[in-house]
Amino acid sequence: MTVRVAVVGLGMMGTTHFKAYQEIGEARVVAVCDVEGRKLSGDWSGVASNIDTGAARHADLSSLRTYSSYDDLLKDDGVDLVDVCLPTFLHAEMALRSFKAGKHVVCEKPMGRTSREARRMAVAAGRAGRFLGVGHVLRFWPEYVAMKEMIDSGRYGAVRSAHFSRFSPRPERSWNNWLQDPSRSGSAVLDLHIHDTDAVQWFFGRPAKVTSRGTFDAAGGVSHILSAFDCEGGAMIVAEAGWDFPPSFPFRMTARVIFEEAAAEFDSTRTPTLIVHNAKTGEVEAPAFPQVNAYAEELRYFVRCIAEGRPPERITPADAAAAIAIVEAEIKSARSGRAVKVEV
Ligand SMILES: NC(=O)c1ccc[n+]([C@@H]2O[C@H](COP(=O)([O-])OP(=O)(O)OC[C@H]3O[C@@H](n4cnc5c(N)ncnc54)[C@H](O)[C@@H]3O)[C@@H](O)[C@H]2O)c1
Repeated sequence: MTVRVAVVGLGMMGTTHFKAYQEIGEARVVAVCDVEGRKLSGDWSGVASNIDTGAARHADLSSLRTYSSYDDLLKDDGVDLVDVCLPTFLHAEMALRSFKAGKHVVCEKPMGRTSREARRMAVAAGRAGRFLGVGHVLRFWPEYVAMKEMIDSGRYGAVRSAHFSRFSPRPERSWNNWLQDPSRSGSAVLDLHIHDTDAVQWFFGRPAKVTSRGTFDAAGGVSHILSAFDCEGGAMIVAEAGWDFPPSFPFRMTARVIFEEAAAEFDSTRTPTLIVHNAKTGEVEAPAFPQVNAYAEELRYFVRCIAEGRPPERITPADAAAAIAIVEAEIKSARSGRAVKVEV
């Protein structure tokens, strides 16, 4: 079965997904939707990005159906899967309408603007009997997948501590500047840091409690956060993220796990990106991992789930909604200065 895809929102992520689908034999992009005519003409030269995701600057869309309104797109019977790459505040509305129209949905992270919206989306997917895949791409990012395997196998003993970070210049160019409006984006804590919050729950299970400190932008959004997570097992788990860096600061993500017998470290700005300091052998190892485009891996997985009629398990709608609920507890903690229980 070929899954017929419509990509909605041709900004940084929509153009990234569009390119990634070209690597997926089981999927065919048949339609695109955006409110900006220039993007529907295939001119993507103005699309801004904080990392190189492999997205093209121009595309030939002449063989595709193009829509400037997603209401029109949803009437298209030739679309099986709607891929929602819209600004975060539009995710829930678009997903709910798509389920109503009988479509499967892939939605970029964060799943919704709030955990309440996300839970509604999960319920709607279940009621409609349609799949919902949420783009928590770290679960497909080879270095994070390799680290998860190190933890689960127990190869280096128990985890003593872990540290995640994600730093970026302030996003200057998004559609209608939506990223800089906390009411539409949730600011850095929801847009950027949620990647690591989800990695924490994926690696170590859902935290019971969080303790956070943050800095706030003029509009009241959390632009930089540092959180400690209380997870089962008692390891010290910390994540820090911010988009309050000057434009010259290169995007950087890191993850470090200290085991009883080794320290593993991923740094997106270093080659090799993943190294392991093995305390038993005294060696510094560079583990092999597949050189793959994580966005294509993620979308291939969701497409196969749809084609094979099995709900996504690598990231469930409940996981994605929980990631937002944890972030909401972090925001509460950063505002109050107190530890906050996570209510999922
Ligand atoms: N997984 C990741 O690594 C990653 C990276 C960046 C962004 N994201 C997420 O992807 C989503 C999109 O972010 P982005 O950076 O691509 O935003 P963007 O501003 O670059 O693009 C948004 C696009 O949506 C279009 N649009 C707006 N309203 C529309 C409507 N009603 N109908 C159709 N099109 C409409 C805009 O014209 C624009 O092309 C966000 O939720 C963001 O958090 C994920």
